[in-house]
Amino acid sequence: MTTTADLGFIHTFLPGRDDGSPLLLLHGTGGDENDLIPLAQRIAPDATLLSPRGKVSENGMPRFFRRSAEGAWDLDDFRLRTAELADFLARARTSYRIGKPIALGYSNGANVAWSMLLKQPDAFAGAVLMRAMLPFDPRPLPDLAGLPILLLAGKYDELIPVDRAGLLAALLGEAGADVTYEVLPAGHGLTPEDLKLAAEWLARRR
Ligand code: MLT
Repeated sequence: MTTTADLGFIHTFLPGRDDGSPLLLLHGTGGDENDLIPLAQRIAPDATLLSPRGKVSENGMPRFFRRSAEGAWDLDDFRLRTAELADFLARARTSYRIGKPIALGYSNGANVAWSMLLKQPDAFAGAVLMRAMLPFDPRPLPDLAGLPILLLAGKYDELIPVDRAGLLAALLGEAGADVTYEVLPAGHGLTPEDLKLAAEWLARRR
């Protein structure tokens, strides 16, 4: 396992034991590069993991882009940080010699993940988006041409109204992605059912 500030982001790289798609782990607000590693090791035990830390600090809590309030995103920063993270991914793929990743994002990390997918669909083999939301219309859309995406929403999510996740599922489908959308009887936090569905989906898609 390597943790370094090279390539523009503090990040951890953990080489895996299989040659399936690596996972790009993107944490939620207040998390860091360590956050999703145990989860990823449970649901895809042999996968190579690349896990950057978001560069924005909200009262000391790392995030991937700025917001002024819950759901009120700074869209200029959102675009800039999306591009910056996509550059990091390209550099990391060259440096670590890894293939196109499946993005595995939670909350704020899932939101920057779908933004990267819309900007650079060719850079990804798919995505697992847990508790993501769509607070604005990002059209025009690229052609996502069958890109597999699993969206896991919580019916009782106290931060993300479930219809905002449904809108994202519809939008990704409209762009041509192969979307699996599941609404679980859960809040914003992840449940064993999230991990089970993600593990099953990854076993088929990696
Ligand atoms: C966001 O700002 O990305 C979403 O509100 C999720 C979160 O609270 O991080």
